[in-house]
Order: sequence, then C-alpha cells, then structure tokens
Amino acid sequence: MTTAVGARDFGVYVHVPFCSVRCGYCDFNTYAPGEVEGATREGYVEAALREMDLARAAMPGDARAARTVFFGGGTPTMLDSSALIALLDGVRGTWGLSADAEVTTEANPDSVTKESLRALARAGFTRVSLGMQSAVPHVLRTLDRTHKPANVERAVLAARDAGLKVSLDLIYGTPGESLEDWRTSLEAVIALEPDHVSAYALVIEPGTRMGAQLRRGEVAPTDPDVQADMYELADTLLSEAGYSWYEVSNWAREPGDRCRHNMAYWRSQDWWGIGPGAHSYLGPHPLPDGGEAPARRWWNVKHPRAYAARLAAGESPEAEGEELAGDDLRLEQVMLRLRLSEGIPADSVEGRAEAVAKLIADGVLDGPAAVRGTLRLTRRGRLLADLAVRALAF
Ligand SMILES: C[S@@+](CC[C@H](N)C(=O)[O-])C[C@H]1O[C@@H](n2cnc3c(N)ncnc32)[C@H](O)[C@@H]1O
Ligand code: SF4
Repeated sequence: MTTAVGARDFGVYVHVPFCSVRCGYCDFNTYAPGEVEGATREGYVEAALREMDLARAAMPGDARAARTVFFGGGTPTMLDSSALIALLDGVRGTWGLSADAEVTTEANPDSVTKESLRALARAGFTRVSLGMQSAVPHVLRTLDRTHKPANVERAVLAARDAGLKVSLDLIYGTPGESLEDWRTSLEAVIALEPDHVSAYALVIEPGTRMGAQLRRGEVAPTDPDVQADMYELADTLLSEAGYSWYEVSNWAREPGDRCRHNMAYWRSQDWWGIGPGAHSYLGPHPLPDGGEAPARRWWNVKHPRAYAARLAAGESPEAEGEELAGDDLRLEQVMLRLRLSEGIPADSVEGRAEAVAKLIADGVLDGPAAVRGTLRLTRRGRLLADLAVRALAF
C-alpha cells in the first residue's frame, strides 16, 4: 500500500496550544491563561516560524508544495488573524502552497467574527472547523463549553459569508446526555447545512478534570450500548440529510467536501507538524546514494516554553521519533486506512482469509465489496473498527 514519494501528498499541520478555558474532558496539548507561564502567543508565533526554516532545511528530497495546511489546537483562533496569516505566509514561503490548497483552521464558535473570518479567507484560508459539540445547553455545561447554541449559527453564517467551507464538530455520549438530546444536536447541525460534520464519541481520559469527576462518582459514564445507538442515529440522520460517511467519525456532503488534510493522514501521505507536541510523518523516500530511507514518525517537545527555548537556541524541537518498516508499517496503514469508506485492497492482508471470512460472517466487513477485492467496514463494523484491525493485522 506504500505510495512512491513523488506520488504522495504533502501537508503541513500547525499546532496552536492556547485556549481561553480548558474543557474538563480535553486531553489535548493546550493551555489556558495562567497554565502557561513564560510562554506568550507572540513567542509562539516567532518559534513556529523558526521551526519552519529548520524543517525545510532538514526535509529530504526536492521541495514539494503543501496541498493542505491544517491549523489545529487548542484553539488556533485565540491568535489574531494577522498572526494566523503570518504563519500561513510562513508555510507559503517555506514550502509553497499548491494552487488548489485546502487551508483549514479549527475554531471555537466564540473566537471568530465576520471580520476575522473575512481576513483569513482573503489570505488563503478555505475552510473552518467549528467546535459545536452539542446544541443542548445542559450538555454544553457538562462539557464546560463557553458558547451558547446561538453563537454557532452566527459563526456558521459569518464563515459562509466569508466564502469559507464549514465543518462542525460534535461530541456524543456526554454524561447526562440522552438519545433525544443527541437527536436535537444532530437536527440542529443539519439545519445549519455545513459542508462537513465530525462526530466523536466522548473519551474520558483519567488525567482530565472529567476523569477525576468520574472517579469521585460525580458523573456517570455513558453506557457503550447507548453510545452505539447514538452513532447509528448520527449515521441515519446525516445520511438522510445527504451526507455520506467517508471515515468512521466523518461525513461530507460531496466528495470534494471531505477534509483532504485528514484524508492524507489516513492514507499515510507525508506531513510536517509545526508547534509544541506536533507529530510529523514522512513515508519511505530515496536517498542520494540510491538506497531508501524508511518511513519515520516523530514528535516535538510538548510544552510551549520548552519548544520556544529549543528554537531560540537554533535547535530542532523534536523530542523523540521512530522508524517504521515491514509489519509495523503495514499494521499502521491497515489501522488507518480501514477507517475510510474506500477501505483497503483485499490483497493487502494476504494470509488472513479466515479472519476476513469471520469478519464478513459477523457483519463487520462488507461481503459484496470483499468479493470485488476491497475490505470495507459495514455500519456495524464502524462501531467495531478496532476489533477488525486487530483481526486483520495481527
Ligand atoms: C482540538 S479540538 C477543536 C477546536 C476547538 N478547540 C474546540 O474545541 O472547539 C478538536 C475536537 O476534538 C474533539 N474532542 C476533544 N476532546 C475530546 C474527547 N475527550 N473526546 C471526544 N472528542 C474530543 C472535539 O469535538 C473538538 O472539537
Ligand atoms: S476541546 Fe477545544 S476549546 Fe476545549 S480545551 Fe480542548 S482544544 Fe480547548
């Protein structure tokens, strides 16, 4: 399944580690004011621009223009639009941007205005991904979200007015959320007519505030069967409204509305992550001596202060990395790609005929698609994607 370097897309991820408030469930590498002494937003932008300079010099092979850029966080729109534009200009100056580049920023509904979105669109941003999470006030409160449901509509209209494509993120399975609450959120999303929807099952990590509430018995976890019903309801309502799933947690109106940047992750293309804690991946590539360097993944130091200090000293912010080859690379590719509606070629899991037959019999893999040579998850299989990967790849 490995694609030659020249045929692989190249994308840039820019991690912006700031939020106005840390949501109790969130385990991302992000910091609310007061949590990040000694690291300023200005310092961050300067360091990220320096990292781009170092990255280009360290990157093997000829320059490849970025086909996608994704500003994630954290809340990238905690930075002024001028700072986000400076970072995008940095990417443009470092690698170049392809003419049809997809440029996304994540945003909280409270952190954008008509003016800020227009400025971003003028500078080359094409897409905004808004963290809506729910349309139900008690669910938003449990999630510690600062926005009111009405702010989402305002942000969607402003983004559309600026000419940006709109994606909405939802979370399901919040403690206290009923199936009817979830239906309300889905209906609200559909009424807003976004181009793209992501719906994630809430994961409560032990190290978060919500993890502590769970341990103390202050919140109850959602029954996995109810979460499964919620997933199926999402798929039913979104499909009826004209959205198609293309990855387990993602639906798009048209194939052209899929998030190309995330598609590149799932298809094991190449990307460079800029910012504290950002991960990067480069697939196998030829060496000047005629040999081949293996695929490599690495990640940056997590804390913004450590990150800025490394770059101020002219050093790479890489914390650790690993090379991937043989079975490890194959396992990783099966794991990522099986989540896509396009599935994986049946011959990429040679020697697993028995496992494939069982997964088809159990309704996890699509039988007719397998006969045509593609292993593809059924709706039931999408709820059991991890199980399917284990059965196919080990
Ligand atoms: C980095 S956040 C996105 C941007 C923005 N900060 C926001 O929250 O609106 C990316 C998305 O991850 C999802 N997410 C974060 N923590 C999660 C968790 N513990 N379980 C499930 N989804 C989560 C949320 O839907 C969120 O919109
Ligand atoms: S979910 Fe978004 S807004 Fe909330 S803390 Fe995480 S990154 Fe920040």
